[in-house]
Amino acid sequence: MTTVANNDKLPAGEIVATRDALRRPLRDLRISLLDQCNFRCPYCMPEAEFHSEYEFLKRKQRLTYDEIIRVVTAACALGVTKIRLTGGEPLLDKNITDLIKRLSPMPGVHDLALTTNGMLLAPMAQKLADAGLQRATISLDSLDEDVFRRMSGGRGDLRKVLAGIEAAEGAGLGPIKINVVVQKGVNEHTILELLEHFRGTGQIVRLIEFMDVGNRNGWRMDQVVPSRELLERIGKRWSLRPIGKNYPGEVARRYEYADGAGEIGFISSVTEPFCGSCSRARLSADGMLYTCLFANQGTDIREPLRKGADDDELIDILSSIWLQRADRYSELRRPDLAEHHVLKKVEMYRIGG
Ligand code: GTP
Ligand code: 5AD
Ligand code: SF4
Ligand code: SF4
Repeated sequence: MTTVANNDKLPAGEIVATRDALRRPLRDLRISLLDQCNFRCPYCMPEAEFHSEYEFLKRKQRLTYDEIIRVVTAACALGVTKIRLTGGEPLLDKNITDLIKRLSPMPGVHDLALTTNGMLLAPMAQKLADAGLQRATISLDSLDEDVFRRMSGGRGDLRKVLAGIEAAEGAGLGPIKINVVVQKGVNEHTILELLEHFRGTGQIVRLIEFMDVGNRNGWRMDQVVPSRELLERIGKRWSLRPIGKNYPGEVARRYEYADGAGEIGFISSVTEPFCGSCSRARLSADGMLYTCLFANQGTDIREPLRKGADDDELIDILSSIWLQRADRYSELRRPDLAEHHVLKKVEMYRIGG
């Protein structure tokens, strides 16, 4: 029997989202296609550890596209409507357009997006759009050559990333979002220049507070630039006014330039957590399902898939994971308590942010 309990009633024809222990619906599934990346951002995959000998997941360990489609089918039956493909760097998966072609016509998939560092995007953007990708988000921490090089671990080529953004826009993958992780003393002094560049382009810059994801970025509270502080600095240069959310559970707080030059967003997971409306589940490339970005444990979905679980069994597995979910790490975060950092958390490059 399929357990899809704890639901709210919705108009006929709409899937009723399964709700967790805190009554949050399951709406988004973020799928990491592989754990490899062509960058070595020090806050995510520091070169010293992710060197040429590092053992990434082998092909056999990664979910196949058939397996991914089966998980998506089950997730959609429980209310998922938004799919985001991530990595590592998802464009290192050379067959990604085949997967997009299969995901985009699925009736439950209303929004199909990609998060990429943009290096490989320019030559692929049109093919991705033709396959059915709807939106692209590009991570870009600075437009200052030196700062960018340092923040990509010496691997990034700024011109290629900017060409990728242009190509994505041209292919209809907009409005393009530009994700910027702001670190005190590292790139904060380059933020105004970056905003200036994207003003008036229709591309939406989102400034993300540096978070304590994973176990190796040596996060400290004093490396975070609170959004409130950034907003004040930006407001001295350009007049901004708040605008409402696009959809319930949106993580960015949106502002628009008063002179009509477009929109920016603040993602303030550290100083203003948004766990109360978190509707996201994350699937790693090896088939672990995580119900929080900061999870220290996931559930293996690959094993039941490979042991022949049918669709109802898969729905039952996902549903029971979501029904039990009570995660709200960012709301409970206590930077002052050492023991808060002891639990081993899943790494960002395995679940793609
Ligand atoms: P849209 O569908 O375009 O609105 O995407 P999004 O706003 O969910 O943005 P995106 O997936 O690009 O996420 C941006 C960044 O916000 C991520 O890279 C994370 O740093 C952060 N973020 C996203 N989801 C969560 C979350 O559930 N918890 C926390 N703490 N941070 C998150
Ligand atoms: N804090 C905030 N955002 C992060 N990202 C990676 N590590 C962190 C962190 N510690 C972002 C990347 C990218 C997305 C996948 O996650 O910059 O935009
Ligand atoms: Fe790669 Fe993104 Fe991690 Fe940087 S933050 S190493 S681009 S996965
Ligand atoms: Fe969701 Fe966990 Fe982030 Fe809170 S900390 S918003 S529960 S992913």
